[in-house]
Amino acid sequence: MELENGRERVALVTGTSSGFGLLTAVELAGLGCRVVATMRKAADKNALLEMAKRAGVESNIDVAQLDVTDESAVETVVAETLARYGAIDVLVNNAGISVGGFVEEVPMEQWRRQMETNFFGLVAVTKAVLPAMRRQGGGTIVNIGSVSGKIGFPGYGPYAASKFAVEGFSESLRHEMSPFGVKVVVVEPGAFRTPIWQKGLASISASPDSPYDAMLRSVTAYSRRAGETAPDPLHVAKLVGKIVRASSPRLRYALGKGSRLTLWTKALLPWAWFERLIRFALSRS
Ligand SMILES: NC(=O)c1ccc[n+]([C@@H]2O[C@H](COP(=O)([O-])OP(=O)(O)OC[C@H]3O[C@@H](n4cnc5c(N)ncnc54)[C@H](OP(=O)(O)O)[C@@H]3O)[C@@H](O)[C@H]2O)c1
Repeated sequence: MELENGRERVALVTGTSSGFGLLTAVELAGLGCRVVATMRKAADKNALLEMAKRAGVESNIDVAQLDVTDESAVETVVAETLARYGAIDVLVNNAGISVGGFVEEVPMEQWRRQMETNFFGLVAVTKAVLPAMRRQGGGTIVNIGSVSGKIGFPGYGPYAASKFAVEGFSESLRHEMSPFGVKVVVVEPGAFRTPIWQKGLASISASPDSPYDAMLRSVTAYSRRAGETAPDPLHVAKLVGKIVRASSPRLRYALGKGSRLTLWTKALLPWAWFERLIRFALSRS
């Protein structure tokens, strides 16, 4: 994908070892972007490179090691990308983890790990990229939020808190950057079939004498079913491709099975009714 001056567009994507990040890197490379695909462990690059090879876009992808919680690594990767390609036109803040568990039982260290990755990591990468985008007078920042950034489900307090934070941050940033031609977008997926579900479920503590044991069983059963029956994550990568090509993208894009309906239901129903609906959905799990 070329700009008006014939230069190829440069996209930096975080968390590309699996899931949405991997598929988005391949999608953007397929659209002709030069993709700097970053991941926590560069040794995990095989899945991405194999898929890129099958799609015939391997030569458009450079893999770089980046843990988004490491501020100096963030500065280095951004500086190296700018030195090599002269610009960053697209940033996809995708890296994320899902810490599950009940508020009372989740150790503070896990709360901090959740916010460090999903929120402060995203802020750090964005801040590192902003000066270049502002100076070049354009760019697109796509933050991968979640339906959990609009609705706090029980058993996922840390995750919801991190994604609500992404929503507020993105809204403020959109106002700040629009005078400089930088577009800020939040993608709000519902459940999609990626490894995050298994990783999140594995992190929930399951003590049999927990006062939350019954609720925990409903939540894990619900999450497991959602993870198994969820749609193909390629839809999210395709949507990011569409957003990157759009001249005036919206602030928010919700997608996924029932996501828009759930968001509308929350917006329209009195809170007490919505709360009952959530309790009913969990009781059926
Ligand atoms: N799948 C869903 O249903 C869903 C729904 C809504 C939103 N989301 C969001 O979508 C994004 C991608 O998740 P996914 O579903 O594609 O799950 P995934 O396959 O687990 O991908 C998450 C990616 O983030 C990376 N990551 C985690 N911590 C990192 C760190 N500190 N620095 C750099 N990379 C890190 C992971 O790397 P490692 O392999 O090293 O762990 C992995 O590459 C997340 O922000 C998630 O919250 C997912």
